[in-house]
Amino acid sequence: MSEKFSKIYEKSIKEPENFWKEAANNIFWFKKPSKILNKSNPPFYKWYEDGITNTCYNALDIHIDQGKGRRTALIYDSPITDKKSKFTYEELRSKVSKFAGALSNQGVKKGDRVIIYMPMIPEAVVAMLACARIGAIHSVVFGGFASNELASRIDDSKAKLLVTASCGFEPGRTVEYKPLVDEAIKQAKHKISKMILFQRPGHEVKLNTPLEISWEESLSNASDHDCVEINSNDYAYILYTSGTTGTPKGIVRDIGGHIVALKWTMKNIYNIDEDDIWWSASDIGWIVGHSYIVYAPLFKGCTTVLFEGKPVGTPDAGTFWRIISEYNVKSLFTAPTAFRAIKKEDPEGKFFSKYNLNCFESLFLAGERADPDTIKWAENLLKVPVIDHWWQTETSWAISSNCTGIEMMKTKYGSACKAVPGYDVQIIKSDQTLAKPNEMGDIVVKLPLPPGTFPTLWNADKRYEENYMSNYPGYYQTYDAGHIDDEGYIWIMSRTDDIINVAGHRLSTGAIEEVLSEHQSVAECAVLGIADKLKGQLPIGLLVLKAGVDKDNDTISKECIQMVREKIGPVAAFKVAIVIKRLPKTRSGKILRGTIRKIADNVEYKMPPTIDDPAILDEIKQDLIDNKILNNG
Ligand code: COA
Ligand code: AMP
Repeated sequence: MSEKFSKIYEKSIKEPENFWKEAANNIFWFKKPSKILNKSNPPFYKWYEDGITNTCYNALDIHIDQGKGRRTALIYDSPITDKKSKFTYEELRSKVSKFAGALSNQGVKKGDRVIIYMPMIPEAVVAMLACARIGAIHSVVFGGFASNELASRIDDSKAKLLVTASCGFEPGRTVEYKPLVDEAIKQAKHKISKMILFQRPGHEVKLNTPLEISWEESLSNASDHDCVEINSNDYAYILYTSGTTGTPKGIVRDIGGHIVALKWTMKNIYNIDEDDIWWSASDIGWIVGHSYIVYAPLFKGCTTVLFEGKPVGTPDAGTFWRIISEYNVKSLFTAPTAFRAIKKEDPEGKFFSKYNLNCFESLFLAGERADPDTIKWAENLLKVPVIDHWWQTETSWAISSNCTGIEMMKTKYGSACKAVPGYDVQIIKSDQTLAKPNEMGDIVVKLPLPPGTFPTLWNADKRYEENYMSNYPGYYQTYDAGHIDDEGYIWIMSRTDDIINVAGHRLSTGAIEEVLSEHQSVAECAVLGIADKLKGQLPIGLLVLKAGVDKDNDTISKECIQMVREKIGPVAAFKVAIVIKRLPKTRSGKILRGTIRKIADNVEYKMPPTIDDPAILDEIKQDLIDNKILNNG
């Protein structure tokens, strides 16, 4: 292990309280915490329990106080609408404090929940920071989710208010948000008291007052609102993510730990200083967007880019290079799928050669495993380090990475590098013993988790404990499997639950199965993620029909695909559902999803000893061949 990194890492593990006490000195506190870590009620650990601070103050006001208000905080670049703008820290604060006043006028108080369902526009960032300013808890919902998912988040969070926009833009289509929101409000049992809608120029929609008001109207009688003082253990936000069932889990983030940890990562993991331009090409609806479009870069006081577009098609595979060169971006963070999309469209890098990327120093990839081919292609093209790092919505920052601000380590293709300071990562084998180097098993993190991770689930302490902390007492179960090699490099090989990763988006196959089971002709079904060259994985559905169904298979498949689009959303990218005669099961009735996946991916599989009828596997293989699904990857 390299010496400098090794020293810092060891300290974070052996003396976590001292380590995180020092890091906490770098943020603004109204009242500094006297207690660093309360360990009295495991697995519910509390960082900085008696500290008092404010997320928005640390993102904006502190920099203005320090005379850096004229520095650019946010660059908005939207190739999809052909718009660009820049906001200094002063300008952004002015917008945020006004909108905070508007929220307050609508009765939103400390602790109230606010749903934000918006496209990638500056107003979305303003809404998030305005919530933080008044101590409201935001819950951002990704625009690619359907009404049903939005409704479940309204119900679970019991949100007081919803902020949305008239529309979003996807290549080739306008996403009308208002009908989706109206349907969600109709479906939700909990009733929100107000909707604030940002009218996108040229796409104004009709509003039904008094429940619905426009963004402009909400600002008309609003005054600036100061940052309120908030306890460190209160929540900054809830971000719902796919769980092992159809019910999403509300990951909560406590305020103090979130600020301390994210600010620490900007220099130590990403090597970003205050004068740098940083770009995270994700969406604010995902954890990467929360942490690295909005919070971490603003806590650091650097410049962050908000990009409303796609890696290809807006207008071409050179967009990423244009943004990097136009704004002097030092480092980019995105999902491997974005690079696979560029590689597919422009394998020779013809677009790349049109731009000067002298400013560019590193590319960070996460969200799914970065395949060595893509990393090598990006390295050859960009001539900078390409760093695969591993993290989860639950943790909000990287569990393993090359910590480039501490010490650059060598790349091992296929590995997400070493555990980041703060995370004591270990592997537990199926016999419940700790693995030796290179032995496969479940990847776990020894408790307590560092600051900035999730202290619990929204209103679901029991689910938190049972789901994540019970199978391996004393450890957080990541639900990823893999091994650690003899140099401490972590290799993430697969999920151990029903989560799949589609274009860097986390989806539950169980949730898709729940929707398919609602089709009146479907007796049972299985959904699995099969390998896909562009998106990493794609979900496919296998449907077994009830006896006596006389509808044709094609109609049933189309209806099922439409149901998933309507109930979960286009983001599920669910385009394949085939009717089969029967599903392979164990003698105890468990569907052999893993085996079917291997057959579909055309990789070697062992005949499961507990299978009830081995002949079904040949049948399934034929079905997959007939439907041109075999060997999709
Ligand atoms: N609002 C509404 N719909 C959305 C949406 C949004 N914010 N984002 C995606 N969708 C829709 C897409 O339009 C598409 O709909 P379609 O079935 O009508 O075509 C569907 O959801 C699937 O989207 P996606 O998986 O993104 O596929 P794509 O073909 O549109 O784009 C990539 C493929 C690789 C270009 C794209 O996935 C991408 O840029 N990924 C970058 C990775 C990323 O941001 N990951 C987030 C975590 S870091
Ligand atoms: P999300 O919560 O959406 O960020 O998804 C987290 C999951 O994505 C992890 O549990 C992993 O399964 C996967 N993931 C994220 N980053 C990586 C990576 N660098 N390598 C492999 N898998 C990853």
